[in-house]
Amino acid sequence: MRLYSVSVSVLVLPMSLLLLVLLVPSPVAGQQQALMDYLERRLQAIEDRISLWNDQTGRYAAELRDAKQQLIGKLEGLEKSKDTQRAELEALGGRVQRVEREMDFLETHKEAPLPCVELDDKLLEQQVTVAKETIKPRYAKLSGCTDVLDSIKGMKILKRFGSHDGVWARDMSGGTGSGRVYIFNGTSDDLIYQYPSLRDFSSSSGTALATPIRLSRQWSGAGHVVYKGHAYVLEEGAEHRLLKLRLPGGLLVDSSVLPLSNLIPPYGLTPHTLLDLSVDEEGLWCVYASSSGTGGDTHHLSLAKMDADTLAVTHTWTTPCPRDNAEAAFMACGTLYVVYNTRLPGRSRVQCVYDAADPSTAEDAIHTYFPRRQGAHSSLKYSVQEKMLYAWGQGYQILYKLNMRSKLDM
Ligand SMILES: *[C@@H]1O[C@H](CO)[C@@H](O)[C@H](O)[C@H]1NC(C)=O
Repeated sequence: MRLYSVSVSVLVLPMSLLLLVLLVPSPVAGQQQALMDYLERRLQAIEDRISLWNDQTGRYAAELRDAKQQLIGKLEGLEKSKDTQRAELEALGGRVQRVEREMDFLETHKEAPLPCVELDDKLLEQQVTVAKETIKPRYAKLSGCTDVLDSIKGMKILKRFGSHDGVWARDMSGGTGSGRVYIFNGTSDDLIYQYPSLRDFSSSSGTALATPIRLSRQWSGAGHVVYKGHAYVLEEGAEHRLLKLRLPGGLLVDSSVLPLSNLIPPYGLTPHTLLDLSVDEEGLWCVYASSSGTGGDTHHLSLAKMDADTLAVTHTWTTPCPRDNAEAAFMACGTLYVVYNTRLPGRSRVQCVYDAADPSTAEDAIHTYFPRRQGAHSSLKYSVQEKMLYAWGQGYQILYKLNMRSKLDM
């Protein structure tokens, strides 16, 4: 706009001068002079305009430069705020982890005094929500094992020993010392019997060939296992304490209060077992049931993956397998097999199957029946090496051979 008005005034001025020159009578030389003047002024005007244009262009260029500078400045600012955001996110992540740890602590130390935390309530709430979502990452199998149970074929009754309920097992991981047989007679004692071999156990009478391992504490239930040179034993008492004993000998090397709350016996037909440990290709597991609290479900079995070295619970699941009429369960290849019966003991059958690594594909378990025998089991311990179940049923020690097939060729 300004440019336009300037150029008009520049044009108008010489025109009026030209008129003035033409109106005044003068000699030719004077006219030429006037024309020269006029042309000069015209040139001057054009030069002015050019310089004006130059100014304008210069100003535009300068403005453009400024804008570019500002833009660069803003971009740098953005980059910086991205960094601060990242830092804030990292800080938040750290806080979430701390809240997780604190939740773990609170769960395992209910009676302990509350830690002093100065946190905005709302922020804490948010963090707890985030923490809950991140607490259970999907379980990835360690062994790459894909076998599923096809049928239970062989059966061998080895002996009749001790009381109605109990556990008999050998080191389920194989390896040195796995030939030895361990007996937990009954549902509560401070004794474990150790036999040098299966043959010694089956051919001897009573405890003649057994080495008794006497513990300083009482164990309870029928959930114990022997794994990688150690016995994992559940201690009797108000707390659900897990003892880790080195074998042979039974030296106590570790113990842990399990962070599982409000426990109730998981199997409807085996009420003396409060926690059932199990070993498979993946390591140590625990079947339990919880009457309330986090993930608690009165009617269904829960499953926990444990770290055999640290005794920590690393994952938990609530399975769709009912507690009612369950007598026992075992793990094989990361899959839980729950065995059911009736109150008047009939044939035991696997009736609920739960794959911990792929819970969504829980197939409707076709009932897999145990061979011939009528009667419930108080414990079923899977031997990874032999693909056999060491079962204790109504005072009998029984071996079952499992037929496995690959899940991939269905
Ligand atoms: C097994 O335990 C029962 C009690 O639960 C007891 O009467 C019996 O003597 C025990 N047997 C052996 C061999 O220790």
